[in-house]
Order: sequence, then C-alpha cells, then structure tokens
Amino acid sequence: MTTTTETTADTTATATVLKADGVTMRFGGLTAVRDVSLTVRSGEIVGLIGPNGAGKTTFFNCLTGLYVPTEGRVAYKGTTLPPKPHLVTQAGIARTFQNIRLFANMTVLENVLVGRHTRTKEGLWSALLRGPGFRRAEEASRARAMELLEFTGLAEKADHLARNLPYGEQRKLEIARALASEPGLLLLDEPTAGMNPQETRATEELVFAIRDKGIAVLVIEHDMRFIFNLCDRVAVLVQGQKLVEGTPDVVQADERVIAAYIGSPMEDSPEDEALAEVQAAEAAAGAADTQEDAK
Ligand SMILES: Nc1ncnc2c1ncn2[C@@H]1O[C@H](COP(=O)(O)OP(=O)(O)OP(=O)(O)O)[C@@H](O)[C@H]1O
Ligand SMILES: [Mg+2]
Repeated sequence: MTTTTETTADTTATATVLKADGVTMRFGGLTAVRDVSLTVRSGEIVGLIGPNGAGKTTFFNCLTGLYVPTEGRVAYKGTTLPPKPHLVTQAGIARTFQNIRLFANMTVLENVLVGRHTRTKEGLWSALLRGPGFRRAEEASRARAMELLEFTGLAEKADHLARNLPYGEQRKLEIARALASEPGLLLLDEPTAGMNPQETRATEELVFAIRDKGIAVLVIEHDMRFIFNLCDRVAVLVQGQKLVEGTPDVVQADERVIAAYIGSPMEDSPEDEALAEVQAAEAAAGAADTQEDAK
C-alpha cells in the first residue's frame, strides 16, 4: 500500500484509529504479550477477551505508553505513538483502569477537571496570576466537566467526594474523567467488574452513547453477554497470543475459544473434586428442604 492510499483511507468514515503491529511485551523470561496486531476503526466498538493472565491489561499498557513494548509498533490515526502516557493522552487515547484510580479525597467534579488538564492550554504563570484568560479557561473547563457528568449520570454527585461513591459510580466516574481529555479512542479495562446487572446494562448503553459521539472504543471484559451485545468485533487473547478475531457470532462459535475458557478437563483435577463436593452439598441441602416441606 502506498502512502497516498493510506492518507486517503484515514480521512474516510472507516479510518483506522488504532493500529498495533506485532506488539510483544516480555518481563524477564515471561512473554506476557506475543506478536499481537490489532486494528480499531472509526465508529467501532472492539472487545478484547481472554482468560485471567492472558495479557489483556499488559497489551493496554503497551498501547498507552505505560510500558514500552519489547517489539512492535503502535500508531494512532496513522502516527506512531511515543511511549509516554501523557503524550498518548494528548494524541487522543484515554483509558480507565482495572483497579480504579481516582483521587479519593477530591470531589467528583475535581476528578473530571484533572482529566481535562491535557486539553487546557493555560500555562503555569497564567494559573498563578489567575488572570482573565485563566478564569475563562477554568469556567469553560468546569462547564465541560459538568456536561460529562450529565452524560455519565453523575451530575447530582458533582460535589461528593469520590471515595463516598458506590463502586459502580466510581467506575462511571473513571469513564467521565477519561472522556475529559476529549479522546478519539477510549480503552476500558473491565468497566463492569463488581457491577450488578442493572449497572452493567447502563454501562452498555453508556458505551453505545460514547461510540455515537464518534469515539472508538476498545474494551476488555470478562462478562461475555456484555461483550457479545456490545462489540462489532472481538479479539481473543490466550497466553499472550491472539487466538481468534471476528464478529461476536464467529468468536462465540469457535471451539478453540470455548476450549481456552473451559480448559481440557484433567483426570482427578481439583476442580472436579470441588465441583463434586458442591454438588453433593447442594443435593443434601435439597433433600433437607424436601423434608422441611414434607413436615
Ligand atoms: N509489570 C509486570 N512484571 C512482570 N510480570 C507482569 C507484569 N505485568 C503483568 N505481568 C504478567 O503478565 C501476564 C499477563 O498479565 P495481565 O495482567 O496482562 O493479564 P490480564 O489478561 O489482564 O488478566 P486479568 O483478566 O486477570 O486482568 C501475567 O502472567 C502477569 O503476571
Ligand atoms: Mg487485566
């Protein structure tokens, strides 16, 4: 492909937003991510799934400059990214973390304002002198932050301390803060972990709404119903390697994916014994209930 066609492709509706090429991440002797390539196009919601320890979060860390990949290249909208988190954010990629990282003792609004700092142009002197330029910028920032709190359904909690929010709302606040950097691509690492079914459903709607605003989304999640409802395309990582990639239908039907999740049963495996114990206990409880009912 020539440079000209690449440039043309990037300006069309199906432009490539993220292109990871042969990303490998080694920690000493351990290869956590092995030669993974993945593309996210404009308007897409792409899922990244795989068993625990498959390398999903490590791959995110390679995309966002938190890790410098041992090999490979990551480009955002056709430009190779410098491996520095603040430069990646500035370029247009925002993320949330598997382990929530909010400023617990700041308010909800302040947390979103922190997320805006890469987009405010006012410098140090302007901030110190608190001149009219700074005040205008600050007002505009607050207005935008409030808009994002409305969008994520947290506006009424703007003045609450982040640490006082229930867990599900802390996850939403992480999303609001990520959106505050005005990204073109949002990376979500297990956004529904710890949520109840209603909250998960609301998060699904929120991700659709984010996509409808023109932000591409790459999402890691263990909740398969959530992933298969939401995503246009799903990639499966197993032991650091991309095993399968395709539409939800294709991925769901792939026997290698099923095997990777369930694993091949071993003879006398501890899981089997544990399962047998649980089944026996349930059977006994069931029998006791029947006796109770009979009384
Ligand atoms: N900084 C690090 N140093 C050494 N090993 C690491 C580091 N980060 C991750 N690993 C290892 O890399 C592998 C992949 O971990 P990773 O957290 O990316 O998996 P994951 O797919 O996100 O799993 P989960 O679904 O449990 O979040 C694991 O074996 C992990 O122990
Ligand atoms: Mg992870």
